[in-house]
Amino acid sequence: MSGATTQTTAVVGIDLGTTYTSVAVVQNRKVTMFANDAGDKMIPSIISFVSRDEVVVGNAAKDRVATAPSRTVVSPKRLLGRGFDDREVQSFLAQQPYLAYRGPDGQALLEICQTKWAIPQICAHLLSHVRDVASARLSTDVTSAVIAVPVTFDDTRLAALQRAAKLAGFKNVDFIDEPTAAAVANRYVPGFGGVIGIYDFGGGTFDFSLVDVSGSTFKVLATAGDPWLGGDDIDLVLAEAAANQFWRQHKVDLRRQAVEWQQVKFACERAKRALAASDQATIAVPDVLRTATGMVSLELTIDRNIFARAARALITRSLDVCDRALAQAEIDKSKLSAIYMCGGTSHLAAVRDAVAAHFGVPLRDGIAPDQAVCLGASIEAAMVSQRRPASLRAKTLS
Ligand SMILES: Nc1ncnc2c1ncn2[C@@H]1O[C@H](COP(=O)(O)OP(=O)(O)OP(=O)(O)O)[C@@H](O)[C@H]1O
Ligand SMILES: [Mg+2]
Repeated sequence: MSGATTQTTAVVGIDLGTTYTSVAVVQNRKVTMFANDAGDKMIPSIISFVSRDEVVVGNAAKDRVATAPSRTVVSPKRLLGRGFDDREVQSFLAQQPYLAYRGPDGQALLEICQTKWAIPQICAHLLSHVRDVASARLSTDVTSAVIAVPVTFDDTRLAALQRAAKLAGFKNVDFIDEPTAAAVANRYVPGFGGVIGIYDFGGGTFDFSLVDVSGSTFKVLATAGDPWLGGDDIDLVLAEAAANQFWRQHKVDLRRQAVEWQQVKFACERAKRALAASDQATIAVPDVLRTATGMVSLELTIDRNIFARAARALITRSLDVCDRALAQAEIDKSKLSAIYMCGGTSHLAAVRDAVAAHFGVPLRDGIAPDQAVCLGASIEAAMVSQRRPASLRAKTLS
């Protein structure tokens, strides 16, 4: 952290992820990511209404998916600032157990506890949660933040996010592109230089940026993204395979059972992560359903080859996005000095193998892939707090 003072900045960096949200701050030239009272630094982006006036957030909300599904919202960033009639929004909403309507601004309203909530109101609970965590840890009322956003966020989506931030009690908010934040975080990792690619495969979005880091300031040469491509979609492909097997065995379609379907998707996420450490994993939901013959469980064992085949089309889509950015910048991929892997989905061996084969240049993940965006946002926040010119392309809405 060259140039940072030894003070703590009250401007925090936030990664409002589709699946996980995190908050960090620069303290005494060191970046600290805060854990909430449950001990989680990566806080599941899930909100559950206990009543109209009381919500729980994170793992406490995830636990309620089974007991209070119609009051629990998973991955709300997918809906933030999007039109209710968008095809992807409609297919997402069709899988949710709560009712949704088109609001006066053309965006979705979710009916929970006899109240219709706008998506910024829902996302505000996540931002409010991390604002509370940071305020408690820093013993000050935190009201300023740099929030990382996907490169595909347009003005409508940024305005919706700004509304959420205001509802959460923030007064000043700047934005930074997620891959750019990851580049900032990796800046002090040995070997950083030249023109790099930032491959950011998260839970709900995929972003790729080409950044020239050879000078004292970074220059973003090109960005491209897919707002509906993430680890959630890989979970869904696995869940479809599990549901098909269950149908063959029991003639029940789990996709039509809201609670059970969400449990299957969570089980697929667990199995996917387990494949990082072992060759085989089992998608398991014990006693998933009562049938005429009693309780039945879901169990499907997958290995890395089966997984790689299931995820191939989605991984190829991410590489097509990379090629778009390369074409835009008129850069041959062999000229890149390295690809920096970030986003939780970049942990997957199938992803790493495909990226390495596609680019033929070294892959680097100096900073933990799922933390780089948050840490980079907090470094940018330290710059903002010192009223320096932002080092990068940060977007600010008035
Ligand atoms: N070790 C792992 N192996 C495989 N997948 C993982 C691992 N760790 C996290 N993931 C997956 O990464 C995704 C979450 O990544 P990340 O936290 O970067 O996304 P996000 O910031 O929530 O989403 P986005 O950036 O798309 O809005 C989830 O789909 C999760 O299942
Ligand atoms: Mg992310």
